[in-house]
Amino acid sequence: MSGLHSGNKVIDESRQGEAVVIENGDIAKGRKLYIESYGCQMNFSDSEIVASIMNGEGFETTRNFEEADVVLLNTCSIRDKAEQTVRKRLEKFNAVKRSKPEMTVGVLGCMAERLKAKLLEEEKIVDLVAGPDAYRDLPNLIKEVDSGRDAVNVILSKEETYADVTPVRMGGNGITAFVSITRGCDNMCTFCVVPFTRGRERSRNPQSIVQEAMDLWSNGYKEITLLGQNVDSYLWYGGGLKKDFEKASDIAKASATNFSQLMAMVAEAVPNMRIRFSTSNPQDMTDDVLHVMAKYDNICNYIHLPVQSGSSRVLKEMNRGHNREEYFELIERVRKIIPDCGISMDMITGFPTETEEEHKETLSLMEYVKYDFGYMFKYSERPGTMAARKLEDDIPEEVKSRRLTEIVDLQQQHSAYRTKEHIGRVEEVLIEGTSKKSAEEWYGRNSQNTVVVFPKENYQPGDFVNVEITNCTAATLIGKAVGYSKNQVTV
Ligand code: SAH
Ligand code: F3S
Repeated sequence: MSGLHSGNKVIDESRQGEAVVIENGDIAKGRKLYIESYGCQMNFSDSEIVASIMNGEGFETTRNFEEADVVLLNTCSIRDKAEQTVRKRLEKFNAVKRSKPEMTVGVLGCMAERLKAKLLEEEKIVDLVAGPDAYRDLPNLIKEVDSGRDAVNVILSKEETYADVTPVRMGGNGITAFVSITRGCDNMCTFCVVPFTRGRERSRNPQSIVQEAMDLWSNGYKEITLLGQNVDSYLWYGGGLKKDFEKASDIAKASATNFSQLMAMVAEAVPNMRIRFSTSNPQDMTDDVLHVMAKYDNICNYIHLPVQSGSSRVLKEMNRGHNREEYFELIERVRKIIPDCGISMDMITGFPTETEEEHKETLSLMEYVKYDFGYMFKYSERPGTMAARKLEDDIPEEVKSRRLTEIVDLQQQHSAYRTKEHIGRVEEVLIEGTSKKSAEEWYGRNSQNTVVVFPKENYQPGDFVNVEITNCTAATLIGKAVGYSKNQVTV
């Protein structure tokens, strides 16, 4: 995914006020902060936490990195290409820093965690390195840099969920927001660097999640996405790592909250808000979750359900907790319990040892599910992962590319098939903004997460509108509004 410029003016006045009374010196010293985020939604969400922490110290944020005094890059390590993108961006910052040597440059997120202090040697421009669990320490790290030292904190935590930090919503549309509910991942898929860069899985206090949802509603937001590497594995039992749940007291276990319970709590607390969630891992998705989705009108009928491969042998090599048949069974249960559910996937092509036959199994799995859309990647070996240690990256680049093209082409056909199914229906759309293609049209999404465009008339961003779908492309539905939906709240 490409980088997105984020940054805005301080919007949390109370926190800005607090910063003024800091004793023993003001850390910000009138400096401006610029944050840029790469990679997954979680990184964008984390940048909002970073902005909040830095605002608390009096740093004003800017959208223009050339006027920034502190530049932070929230980075991604998922594939080699993601890291190369960040390195190129650092080169660009280097050019600016030449004429502005006092500028502080920090690397946050997964690359920071993966490369640690090595990053300071490899990229001379970098002054500060902070891993995903070290953001509360950023003010101290900035002080270190100010006193002429390089600053590194890549300690991973057992408890950190930033539950009490109110994210500063940056560069968004004021309508949809991310709310993070778990951090880290315990799945250890053999290709994946995330368990190493984001640490062990832990869940956030449900009360703080509900409170954040209610605060967003009162600030005019209409949709939230509950975020985690593996949301279905959410389990709150008073704090601590998921893997330590068995060691918890009987009382803590008895009063624990799981994902379906959390979803029901949120759905009831903000009944007029749309609720989405991402990402679901097939082996952790229970029928309870599906029933809660079916029960609450405001939980969207959409599941992002990465599969990675259609071959049971490859899935085993990947250490995914499911095989092909179990995945099919899950799809059947989804279709039965939520008949109009949108389903998307992630797929990896060219995993070590993947044969042509196994690649065909991926194509046939896709044929069976006919996903609404998908994110498809060529396998990229990540240092330190089990796959890198045990398996040779033996699929030639041209074979990976050809297989990727085949699955991308097939997905294109399926997306077109799925969008066509919506023609003639009247669907609720939450308006998010002006269509990229036409200033006269709004763009929003239906419950299944498919983009819908339609003439603006007198509707406004944030409105829930019923739209009759009249036409489509492979990725977009085209229609005409026929009135507000029943979920439109008039004030
Ligand atoms: N559970 C996570 C997954 C994060 S990674 C989530 O919240 O989405 C997103 C996707 O990147 C994975 O599902 C996988 O398809 C892909 N991916 C991960 N590691 C990869 C690698 N080494 N090479 C290619 N693709 C990879
Ligand atoms: Fe990565 Fe697998 Fe977790 S893809 S984030 S280890 S579920």
